[in-house]
Amino acid sequence: MFSFFRKKSSSATTPFSLDFMESDWHCHVLPGIDDGAPDENVTLAMLQEYVQLGIKKIVATPHVRADYFKNTIETIQAAAAKTNALIETHSLPLVLEASAEYYADENFVQLIQENQLLPIEGQYILFEFSMQAPSLWGHKLIEKIQQKGYTPLLAHPERYRYWHGKPREWQSLKNRGVSFQLNLLSLVGQYGSAERKAAEQLMEKGYYEAFGSDAHGLHHLQKLKDLGRNPHFDTLQQLPLLNRLG
Ligand SMILES: [Fe+2]
Repeated sequence: MFSFFRKKSSSATTPFSLDFMESDWHCHVLPGIDDGAPDENVTLAMLQEYVQLGIKKIVATPHVRADYFKNTIETIQAAAAKTNALIETHSLPLVLEASAEYYADENFVQLIQENQLLPIEGQYILFEFSMQAPSLWGHKLIEKIQQKGYTPLLAHPERYRYWHGKPREWQSLKNRGVSFQLNLLSLVGQYGSAERKAAEQLMEKGYYEAFGSDAHGLHHLQKLKDLGRNPHFDTLQQLPLLNRLG
């Protein structure tokens, strides 16, 4: 078992960097298509902050959910084209990949069946469950993703409070082949102490395979700098990660 809780960070005297991640696999940087960056000005500010943080590749993952953000491959690719134009105009050393964060609703099931998905690195389907109640057909959904040859990648498992204190639920998902993505903001207390504790427990179990910022704006990226003072930060940098560029 890893020991995450006794190490002191050695990064206090050096500028904070997320360069160990190489890529961010979860963010809402595309302009005007979900509750993330509302316009290109905010998108540009976020892109510039990513460069400062040492990130080389951004996987944009706008929400896709029928009730609030019914994005499609077309809406996402159009917003990604605007973002790529900003990257080019401002000569930013960034690569952008267009993907999505799929909400576990009937629209998602239909998108899987119709092969209308945008996987990360051609393989990983980032999805999220309701925060309010466990999905009655979550396991079926996972099977459907796998039947299409993709790996389900669950966003912020530490944020589903109905699983707190129920490690068997996490274990069941891992046994079914679900990869877990840590929301880095959970570790700096962005969502509360219960989420932070759950993130630490999942880290200790070695369950996380990927990281994401889940940044919805510049303020979230700036908040990530608090990780530099986090006692787990040194260990975080040593973990094997899917994020790293091949
Ligand atoms: Fe997100």
